[in-house]
Amino acid sequence: MDKAKQEAGYRAADQVRDGMIIGIGTGSTVLYAMERISERIREEKLAVAGVPTSYQAAYRAVEMGIMLTSLDAHPKLDLAIDGADQIDPAKRMIKGRGAAHLREKCVADAAETFIVVVDDSKCVSILDGPVPIEVLPFACMPVIKRINDLGGSALIRNGSGKDGPVISDNGNFILDCTFGEIRSPEELEQNIANVPGVVESGLFTRYTGKTMVIVGAKKS
Ligand code: 5RP
Repeated sequence: MDKAKQEAGYRAADQVRDGMIIGIGTGSTVLYAMERISERIREEKLAVAGVPTSYQAAYRAVEMGIMLTSLDAHPKLDLAIDGADQIDPAKRMIKGRGAAHLREKCVADAAETFIVVVDDSKCVSILDGPVPIEVLPFACMPVIKRINDLGGSALIRNGSGKDGPVISDNGNFILDCTFGEIRSPEELEQNIANVPGVVESGLFTRYTGKTMVIVGAKKS
């Protein structure tokens, strides 16, 4: 699986052109893309700057010599590279295993092209995985109730290395919400967004038109 992730990440990194401002997603597959971008910066003297979607992405970019910038400086990005937890044939996705989907969605929205890097275990015919939802701690219980009303079941994500809830990079809680097979991801994304206290869900249904999916092949 790591080989497949590496292949996907490296192929995405090869789409980066000199002078581009790119969005840097979060997760293990994107780390491979960053590794290859860093190599290209050293070998080809590629000039790029990246908007990181998490502390993980920011710190790794610094270690790898990838210059950082922000959405304030660059509200439009040439491309963004990110992973996914599930993706369907229409390029609709569930993201947020790493609790970074809020910033990942801001970056995807700002990007002209959204490159999604996955291994084939992420490709499904119908989205059915848990949907991470970032919530304002103040409204956590009312949001859980409203998720139940929408036919879902919500669990507060707990930390490891800390007792109690995971706190996102934005200071919020994460709910992992199961809905079974998600027949209309667009409608569910909208219904979740309508709940007061929801900051952002990990359903990505609005960027299919600008999404390029790279599925890494396993190589021996
Ligand atoms: C983080 C994400 C990741 O992009 C997603 O979980 C995929 O991660 P990985 O490449 O490690 O499988 O959405 O919030």
